Amino acid sequence: MNFVGSHILSVSQFDRQAIEKVFEVADKMGPFANRQRVTRVLEGAILGNMFFEPSTRTRVSFGCAWNLLGGEVRETTEIKTSALAKGESFYDTARVLSGYSDMIVMRHQLEGSVDEFAAASRVPVINGGDGSNEHPSQALLDLYTIRKEMADRGKGIDELRIALVGDLRYGRAVHSLCKLLSLYNKLHFTLVSPPELALSDEYIEGIREAGHEVNLSDQLQSGIQHADIVYVTRTQEERFPTPEDADKYKGLFRLNQSIYTEYCEPTTVIMHPMPRDSREDANELDNDMNENPNLAIFRQTDNGVLVRMALFALILD
Ligand code: CP
Repeated sequence: MNFVGSHILSVSQFDRQAIEKVFEVADKMGPFANRQRVTRVLEGAILGNMFFEPSTRTRVSFGCAWNLLGGEVRETTEIKTSALAKGESFYDTARVLSGYSDMIVMRHQLEGSVDEFAAASRVPVINGGDGSNEHPSQALLDLYTIRKEMADRGKGIDELRIALVGDLRYGRAVHSLCKLLSLYNKLHFTLVSPPELALSDEYIEGIREAGHEVNLSDQLQSGIQHADIVYVTRTQEERFPTPEDADKYKGLFRLNQSIYTEYCEPTTVIMHPMPRDSREDANELDNDMNENPNLAIFRQTDNGVLVRMALFALILD
């Protein structure tokens, strides 16, 4: 994979070598992210951080990553404050914004929107999440976290046992992560979801064709047993036709410390792309796990800065 000047639209662009390159550069970004070292390598460069759908960590961590490399950030945080609300096309928006920016990160609720935008852009574009399709930088930071967590436990990614829990139908982070994990060897996937929110056949076939074992379950307790990683997700209510359609799936799977203690291994790592829905009717990952050392969710968010710095560094050579 040639990173220089490339758009990052899907994890399908990555092979194992490209992933290792991202991780190698991410490892080197630690001192800059921790302010032990300072670089101004992107001084004068502008990131267009175009988020047309809500975001906390993706938007802010991409912005921080750019700032830590010395650049400036200009951003949009919703459709209604942009000219998209006045009927402007992705083509025109991309032509305009790419005249103001050295790189663009874009998030939008429509699947394929970032591809359409990138086709018209004069600068590299990174997909910050397009509908329920893909979230490539999230999957890279998740895999980077998995690699580190497993290394701490004397294991690798090959032969990993992972339970993916929750809304696997609409969760774009899961879609991208499954594709990346499929590049490794002999993994065991347990897909825990209500049947209506199961991972689509297209993804399941892709995982199986890559030589991995896949089991489907609608039971949290049995689904998480023996897992190295339990990756919990939120019901993606914004993708359902109505909020009421999403309500019936909220709270079906709730992982808390007591279930963890009874059913997980003592070393099982708990991950979540976040945001976790902490409202009472959902609460898929309880706050009572916050002090559990195997809860890796805030290590994931910290790693996001390193991985996003690495993507900028590689794309801009
Ligand atoms: N994981 C993730 O995409 O979070 P945000 O929606 O806060 O960006």
